[in-house]
Amino acid sequence: MKCFHLLFLLLVLLLEATTLKPILAHSSQVNDANRIRCLEKERRALLDIKGELVDIHGRLSSWGNEENKRDCCKWEGVHCHNRSNHVTQLKLAFYQLQGKISTSLLELEHLRYLDFSENDFEYAPIPEFIGSLTKLRYLKLSNSNFSGPIPHQIGNMISLEYLDISRNGLEGGIPKHLGNLNSLVILYMNGNNLTGDLHELISSLSGPTEKKLEILDLSMNTISGLFPNMSRFSSLMTLDLHENQLTGPIGEDNLRLPNLTYLDLSFNRITGPVPDLSISSSLQYLYLSNNMFNGTLTQSIGRLSQLQELDLSINEFLQVQFSHRWAPDFQLEYLHLSGCKLGNYFPRWLKTQTELLFIDISGTGISDTTPSWFGSISPTLMYINATNNQIYGSFPNFSFSSGGPLLPYLGSYRRVLDLSRNKISGSVNFLCNITDWQLLDLSDNLFSGQIPDCFAKFEWLVYINLANNHLSGEIPYSFGSLSALSLLHLRNNSLSGGLPTSMSNCTSLEMIDVGDNRLTGKIPDWVGNSFSEVRILILSSNGFHGSVPLSLCRLANLQILDISSNKISGAIPDCLEDFTAMREKQNPYLFWGPKETFPFTHRLENAYLMWKGKEVRYVNYVGLVKLIDFSNNNLVGRIPSNITKLVGLVGLNVSRNNLVGPIPTDVGELELLNFLDLSRNRLSGSIPNSVCDLSHLGVLDLSYNKLSGRLPRCSQGLTFDESAFEGNVGLCGLPLNKSCPGDKSHESPTSRVGGSDAGEEFEYDRFITGGFYIALGVGFVVGFWGIFGTILFNKTFRYAIFKWWDTIYDLVLVRMEVNKVRLWSCFQKRRFRQS
Ligand SMILES: *[C@@H]1O[C@H](CO)[C@@H](O)[C@H](O)[C@H]1NC(C)=O
Ligand SMILES: *[C@@H]1O[C@H](CO)[C@@H](O)[C@H](O)[C@H]1NC(C)=O
Ligand SMILES: *[C@@H]1O[C@H](CO)[C@@H](O)[C@H](O)[C@H]1NC(C)=O
Ligand SMILES: *[C@@H]1O[C@H](CO)[C@@H](O)[C@H](O)[C@H]1NC(C)=O
Ligand SMILES: *[C@@H]1O[C@H](CO)[C@@H](O)[C@H](O)[C@H]1NC(C)=O
Ligand SMILES: *[C@@H]1O[C@H](CO)[C@@H](O)[C@H](O)[C@H]1NC(C)=O
Ligand SMILES: *[C@@H]1O[C@H](CO)[C@@H](O)[C@H](O)[C@H]1NC(C)=O
Ligand SMILES: *[C@@H]1O[C@H](CO)[C@@H](O)[C@H](O)[C@H]1NC(C)=O
Ligand SMILES: *[C@@H]1O[C@H](CO)[C@@H](O)[C@H](O)[C@H]1NC(C)=O
Ligand SMILES: *[C@@H]1O[C@H](CO)[C@@H](O)[C@H](O)[C@H]1NC(C)=O
Ligand SMILES: *[C@@H]1O[C@H](CO)[C@@H](O)[C@H](O)[C@H]1NC(C)=O
Ligand SMILES: *[C@@H]1O[C@H](CO)[C@@H](O)[C@H](O)[C@H]1NC(C)=O
Repeated sequence: MKCFHLLFLLLVLLLEATTLKPILAHSSQVNDANRIRCLEKERRALLDIKGELVDIHGRLSSWGNEENKRDCCKWEGVHCHNRSNHVTQLKLAFYQLQGKISTSLLELEHLRYLDFSENDFEYAPIPEFIGSLTKLRYLKLSNSNFSGPIPHQIGNMISLEYLDISRNGLEGGIPKHLGNLNSLVILYMNGNNLTGDLHELISSLSGPTEKKLEILDLSMNTISGLFPNMSRFSSLMTLDLHENQLTGPIGEDNLRLPNLTYLDLSFNRITGPVPDLSISSSLQYLYLSNNMFNGTLTQSIGRLSQLQELDLSINEFLQVQFSHRWAPDFQLEYLHLSGCKLGNYFPRWLKTQTELLFIDISGTGISDTTPSWFGSISPTLMYINATNNQIYGSFPNFSFSSGGPLLPYLGSYRRVLDLSRNKISGSVNFLCNITDWQLLDLSDNLFSGQIPDCFAKFEWLVYINLANNHLSGEIPYSFGSLSALSLLHLRNNSLSGGLPTSMSNCTSLEMIDVGDNRLTGKIPDWVGNSFSEVRILILSSNGFHGSVPLSLCRLANLQILDISSNKISGAIPDCLEDFTAMREKQNPYLFWGPKETFPFTHRLENAYLMWKGKEVRYVNYVGLVKLIDFSNNNLVGRIPSNITKLVGLVGLNVSRNNLVGPIPTDVGELELLNFLDLSRNRLSGSIPNSVCDLSHLGVLDLSYNKLSGRLPRCSQGLTFDESAFEGNVGLCGLPLNKSCPGDKSHESPTSRVGGSDAGEEFEYDRFITGGFYIALGVGFVVGFWGIFGTILFNKTFRYAIFKWWDTIYDLVLVRMEVNKVRLWSCFQKRRFRQS
């Protein structure tokens, strides 16, 4: 738990800074409380500086000419020397300042500490005159919207020990002769647009600097080239080069850094073997993920006895395989091996790692049973991810202690178990012992037996996914105690019985998917009264009967309602217009807009719906999709005309029922509709002309009804496939092979909406293999893919959506991973930054 000690240390430092300092300062001023310490020349200089800054939020209001503001040493952010009274520190961070930095700064000849970070200099360059502040020891200009090249004048400073110009838009390389800075210990240049060859860049640091430097952070730039010889930076403790474009292997001797404690080379394109780092015997943090390291990790890594965090994930060709008896000297807290090759066997050396907090061995090719010691490997374990392997056999009994600190890198989740996508069988009873976990994902396995009725104390559980297993029996009564539960996935098991009445207590539920089971009974009335937060309700493919309870209409947040393929009878309730969320028109066709505005609803993941016989599992963008699926039931009566008030609907399916009466005249109001299936009912009357307004329609099916009259002729060029209308003897006009009374002849049917020539198919395939969705199984209902169908088949939008996907992919996967690591390591880095 060293990191928490660090956090403690940090707090102590912080306390000291915030309470002790002012107290000390105060005591030294008590004697001469009324004396004005400020030097007139410096006061004027400070006022000039204020004059050229734009201080919209009045953060510098204590700076002024008024009598009561005479003493500039008392101004916000200004610190004077306690004897000479010269201004020695200027700390103007997070003041949301704009404007210019005045040259009057040079009048503050005794300035040692200057912090202009976290302001907005509107993409101006860093002023060159800053290089003349020769007494400066500490210069921090991070995240302040500077751009342009790094001024070479910085090389004259000097005395400079600490330089932080990170997270700006700085371009180009590192100015020559920066290596002359013979006091520089800490250098942050991360998060800029620095380019060029790393070898060249660091040659600018040759000189006294290279022997002194302890922290070098060039991460998140566009630095390229082969990995150079970094060994000359002999004092380095932290080396961070992540998120650049470094290539090639790391030569032997290129990382001989005896004092290194922190090394991050992740997100580059480094090849070859993982270098032997045993000379860095103090190494605590090693991040090499998302590279192209290959070969076999050597046992020498085991000699890094201080190592706490090891991330080798996403190095597809890296073998991390040790003999069964290997016992490394380290005790890891964080181990991330996702996507490495661990070989067939469950890694036995893990048994020695009894202090683990985080372990990710997902997608590592393990094809083995889980050893029983794994169930109690480390009392503090909080994150287990073993998804996407071939783990089989039953899972061992769990005995992890409860409580424990909150892990920063788990985001909102406290404790996480992800065993999904394996071949684990046997019962899920081991869950009973981990009452304070928050996320449990056992989906896509071979678990069988009943879900144990032991959830009475799971007060933290937010997400449980048991979908796609062989579980049977009833939904346990104790699920009613899951007051924090937000996402419940039980799809595709053999669960029977009804929804237990106790579940009316689960008032936090946002998503319920119990589709494809053997559930029976009526849809309980309390569903509508209790699940006020629910946004997705999927009860499809079960044996529910009875009518749709009117109370369901109270689910004002509902966006997806799927009760298809049951035995529901009675009429469609005419209170549907109470689905307030479905009345909100959020155009899903525009959702590739800027990241910032995308309503990112990552928590509603893994909804499954179907489109044209394919089951689609989709992630993340559920927030915008609004669907009603009542298909394949025994519904009777008319389609309520006020269904057309649900103008946010993207899909509507009431096919395969016994509905009668007309299609609502103003169906065209549902202008976002992409999927409309009213087929196989007994609908009569003509097709309203307003269907021509459905400009996003990708799928229309009105077949096998009793519709009659002329098909609407849409001026917008909207055309439909003939099959959409078949089985309606009374219909006539194009594209049907039947002319209406009074017509002359007809031409051949126009091509279907969303045509599919070879080129388009190709794009479609690419889209799917790109990971956009996973299509599974067979079925029929309403779906979602249709939207993307339309978008996809429209060339103008295709690029936009690919771009959008890139953005989201980046946002969701990469950022999440990076942030986990970043957050976790920030303790360590912060400690350095404070010192
Ligand atoms: C002035 O500050 C220094 C450290 O910055 C401190 O050691 C010294 O005691 C202070 N002197 C007075 C008179 O407060
Ligand atoms: C940098 O500029 C952008 C766009 O002008 C602005 O949104 C952002 O707040 C600025 N950054 C800071 C730290 O003020
Ligand atoms: C970095 O450069 C790229 C392209 O050269 C540009 O699009 C981007 O806005 C730049 N980033 C910053 C922070 O200036
Ligand atoms: C790398 O640099 C170190 C220190 O400057 C030097 O001793 C070593 O020979 C260099 N290695 C190579 C392969 O050039
Ligand atoms: C490594 O750190 C130790 C202790 O801080 C220090 O004495 C030594 O000089 C450092 N080694 C190098 C090569 O800087
Ligand atoms: C590692 O990859 C390089 C090319 O990137 C290849 O030349 C080398 O043979 C690979 N080594 C192993 C052990 O696979
Ligand atoms: C487990 O790891 C996979 C990557 O291998 C990732 O996609 C998934 O989100 C992780 N699960 C959890 C719950 O973090
Ligand atoms: C629960 O944990 C205890 C020890 O803490 C263990 O003896 C028991 O077997 C575990 N039960 C299950 C079902 O995992
Ligand atoms: C797990 O625990 C249960 C009861 O706590 C016990 O019946 C079972 O034998 C245990 N299984 C193993 C593999 O220890
Ligand atoms: C349903 O679950 C079974 C068992 O895990 C699995 O084989 C099947 O593929 C799943 N079906 C779907 C549509 O996911
Ligand atoms: C549901 O909540 C009520 C009232 O808060 C409580 O009495 C009852 O025990 C709860 N039911 C379950 C199964 O937790
Ligand atoms: C909705 O339409 C039905 C008939 O289709 C009607 O009975 C009902 O009153 C309408 N509701 C409202 C609020 O207009």
